[in-house]
Amino acid sequence: MALNAKQMQLMQGPASPLSREANELICMTGQGTPMGEVVRRYWVPALLSTELPSPDCDPVQVRLLGEDLVAFRDTKGRVGIVQWWCAHRGTPLWMGRNEEDGIRCLYHGWKYDVNGDCVDQMSEPSEAQFKDRVKLISYPTVEMGQIIWAYMGPPDKKPPDPEFEFTQVPSSHLQVSKVIQECNWVQAVEGGIDPAHARALHGAIKDDEDGGWGLPPSSPFMTASAGRYFVEHTDYGHRFWEVAKMQNGDNHVMAHHFVMPWTQIRAHTVNENLVPGHFYVPIDDDNCMVWNWVYSYTDQPLSEFTLWYEDNASGNGPAHVDQTTFRSFPNRDNKWGLDREAQRTVSFSGVKGINVQDRLVQEAVGPVVDRSRENLGQSDLPIIGVRKKLMEGVALVSDGGDPAGIGKSYYELRAFEKVYPNEADWKQETMKLMHPKSVGGA
Ligand code: FES
Ligand SMILES: [Fe+2]
Repeated sequence: MALNAKQMQLMQGPASPLSREANELICMTGQGTPMGEVVRRYWVPALLSTELPSPDCDPVQVRLLGEDLVAFRDTKGRVGIVQWWCAHRGTPLWMGRNEEDGIRCLYHGWKYDVNGDCVDQMSEPSEAQFKDRVKLISYPTVEMGQIIWAYMGPPDKKPPDPEFEFTQVPSSHLQVSKVIQECNWVQAVEGGIDPAHARALHGAIKDDEDGGWGLPPSSPFMTASAGRYFVEHTDYGHRFWEVAKMQNGDNHVMAHHFVMPWTQIRAHTVNENLVPGHFYVPIDDDNCMVWNWVYSYTDQPLSEFTLWYEDNASGNGPAHVDQTTFRSFPNRDNKWGLDREAQRTVSFSGVKGINVQDRLVQEAVGPVVDRSRENLGQSDLPIIGVRKKLMEGVALVSDGGDPAGIGKSYYELRAFEKVYPNEADWKQETMKLMHPKSVGGA
């Protein structure tokens, strides 16, 4: 879809602060919108594999990029993701019978396979059947890394499978969860690509045993000064560093990645053999699904402590998130559990659960933040980098080209937090770790 003159003008403007029109351009992902065309060029994390646990299990409703869909696993174990309404007279298919390699509408019994093809019309006389001309909108799926992914773009533009390194490790080495965040997806991406907020929002006032209130004040990250930021654009998005001075003159370095259009890969603050990350996927323009993953790239599986930490201290497990609806228990209705006494005595935020703290600040501002009112500083360079990359994606796709991140260069990426002596070349050292195969020579 070519951009109109007004949109072209917006693309040429500064990435920040954004006019309201430019803000809308990067945030809205419905069918036919410029950014909608961009995000449909990627594999979309759609469901946890466990939501469709076995052949012929119950179908599940799913909303992606503003489209209402139904997912089902057929008798052979294949996953179909199709339009939610029956092509006959519109009955919702989530209530249908999932049996014998297809989903059958409850109203008149029309049946569809995982490709959306109508394969039976029991209410039509056999000589009058026109099933071969009936087809649902359907999207190809792949299943890897405990996730079912959908591709919702042009069939001839389908990228290689989404083989992030975490999708290639044994299940004992990987944990994946998801939670709805009640705000636009770009707001969530910008929270993810933002190490600067962690010293404030995620800070604990006391070194705390369970970690749920935030980062211990005595940790290297928390004791370092405000960092300097370095951003390098790449063919997958950008890599960036926060470099902060320790009191002894050493450099505390966080080396992270942004992968187009919605992926953050960040350092693990406790164990450098683990890599965590998030996807921030639009449900619609006012809501997104935050996917949380952490994996071990060594031969060591995830420890009990790591599993506990991700579920509880991070605030993404059953204690904080309804595992049927994936809505957070601490949410707007209860002011995210903000505890003023805890804010005075225990943690900077007064909210328990690291990612609950993220949900608080990103949701409370409203569904789509007005970026024309911002005053951005040096620490916002990674956020400005995201906006540039999203705008570049819109310009490229509207011109018939390919956006960043549809190749395979992101497959190897890892992220790190490390302390280097002042005289060390932190960039050279971290590059080997961030790109273990192409730079590190693994
Ligand atoms: S509405 Fe589905 S078969 Fe009639
Ligand atoms: Fe955060």
